[in-house]
Amino acid sequence: MCRNLKRFAVLVSGGGSNLQALIDGVEAGEIKGDLGLVVSNRKSAYGLERAKAHGIEAIYLRGDNISVEEYDKQLIEILRDRQIDFVVLGGFLKILGPDFIRAYENKIINIHPSLIPSFCGEGYYGLRVHQAALDYGVKVSGATTHFVSEVADAGPIIYQVSVPVLDGDQAEDLQKRIIKEEHKLLVKTVKDYCDDKFEIQGRIVKVR
Ligand code: GRF
Repeated sequence: MCRNLKRFAVLVSGGGSNLQALIDGVEAGEIKGDLGLVVSNRKSAYGLERAKAHGIEAIYLRGDNISVEEYDKQLIEILRDRQIDFVVLGGFLKILGPDFIRAYENKIINIHPSLIPSFCGEGYYGLRVHQAALDYGVKVSGATTHFVSEVADAGPIIYQVSVPVLDGDQAEDLQKRIIKEEHKLLVKTVKDYCDDKFEIQGRIVKVR
């Protein structure tokens, strides 16, 4: 394995279509990084199957009946053992604690299906995000990639893409329109991270 490439892990709780976009990006040579590990807090997460199908180590780390501190500790150990350089959250629904976030400061990338700071933070996940956008009556929504800080969805923004809201949209319609853009946005974000393009100044991410 080539160690001049950054090695990363993707954390998932569900279907893992964003994970799949990253797998495809790495396999196509677009992302010059090594996707070395997928971890899920849910045994049934389809993302684990996607990883195995591509020869990527897949670990189920049980997320219920465990304190945040203990989960952080176990996860850090797993990632350190495998010399993981950075982490991507691809629909990871378990809250990570300060210990984990500090251990990987500015090295955790999340994708959120709205234009942050709208419709984000605790409780905004899945269709709830899109329903909130529709209920508010926005004409555009979108997706955001950002570095993870200790406050949910509040870390430095990396990239955003806007997507129109159309008359008669249901939450599912908006979700489908946005997720297609998420895949491209996340691949671009991880590609550029691997290429060392980001410089973080406070909450501003400069792209070199
Ligand atoms: C995506 O909408 C992502 O923005 C959010 O969780 C969802 C995960 O979808 N954080 P998938 O599992 O990658 O299909």
